[in-house]
Amino acid sequence: MGHDRRDQLTEAAQAIREAKEVVILTGAGVSAESGIPTFRDAMEGLWSRYRPEELATPEAFRRDPALVWRWYDMRRRGVVACRPNPAHEAVAHFLRERSSATLVTQNVDGLHQRALAGAWGVASGDVAELPESVRVRILTLHGDILAVRCVACDYLRPDQDPVAAESDHVLPRCPQCDQLLRPAVVWFGEMLDGPTLEAAFEAAARADICVVAGTSAVVHPAASIPEMTLRSGGRLVEVNPARTPLSGKAYWRVTGSAGEVLPTLLATG
Ligand code: OAD
Repeated sequence: MGHDRRDQLTEAAQAIREAKEVVILTGAGVSAESGIPTFRDAMEGLWSRYRPEELATPEAFRRDPALVWRWYDMRRRGVVACRPNPAHEAVAHFLRERSSATLVTQNVDGLHQRALAGAWGVASGDVAELPESVRVRILTLHGDILAVRCVACDYLRPDQDPVAAESDHVLPRCPQCDQLLRPAVVWFGEMLDGPTLEAAFEAAARADICVVAGTSAVVHPAASIPEMTLRSGGRLVEVNPARTPLSGKAYWRVTGSAGEVLPTLLATG
């Protein structure tokens, strides 16, 4: 750990302890140490000739639903096999200790939610069992990869089973209307849930400090959320091994991995 980084980490941790309201915005980097590849790291093997923007769209699903389902099936299997890492645990502990803290995540892997359920002792691991006062402080912007919904009607269910996707004929279908089921995530070109996004902007505007961890900060509107903190006079802490478009606006930058940095940065004791 370089001298600069230690200074930034100590100073930012102190400011977080003294802040009244803190919002934490996370991206794929916080799950990297659980073994889930980030989006903008090169995609592996079979998938290396695609970009996420070519698979995670309504057009791609209309054109070739079996191809899109194969990609999601691979990612779902990865998520089911992974566990929360010290970054998720640190965020969960922080939300438990600080009743004014809000988590806004772009991740669809449910690992924050599993750590949060653990921190509150919910044996089923289901965040739906957390008190309402806690659930309103967990804002999931891009959906849930371990849920499926209908392309046509309002059918939605949690689902972590492998999906057969060798051809269009075997794809899962809606029990209500027989149309195709799809992953319950937000795709490029789709709207985020309005009330969730609004709550995220409001939390960011109220926050003295916005902690931005493990996101490349290039996908909007999520990447605009820290701007709300800046505009209302708050400060940003960025945790990322690499620089991002937000780096120049961060008051503190901690160059490192989320699993190493967040337990210290968010220590409440
Ligand atoms: P990206 O893959 O774009 O960025 C991951 C970021 O994490 C990069 O800035 C890395 O430097 C950083 N990183 C890598 N390992 C890390 C570690 N161990 N600790 C901390 N940081 C680390 O992922 P997102 O920014 O989350 O959208 O991508 C945003 C959205 O684009 C995703 O939610 C998804 C994607 O396409 C949808 O699915 C709609």
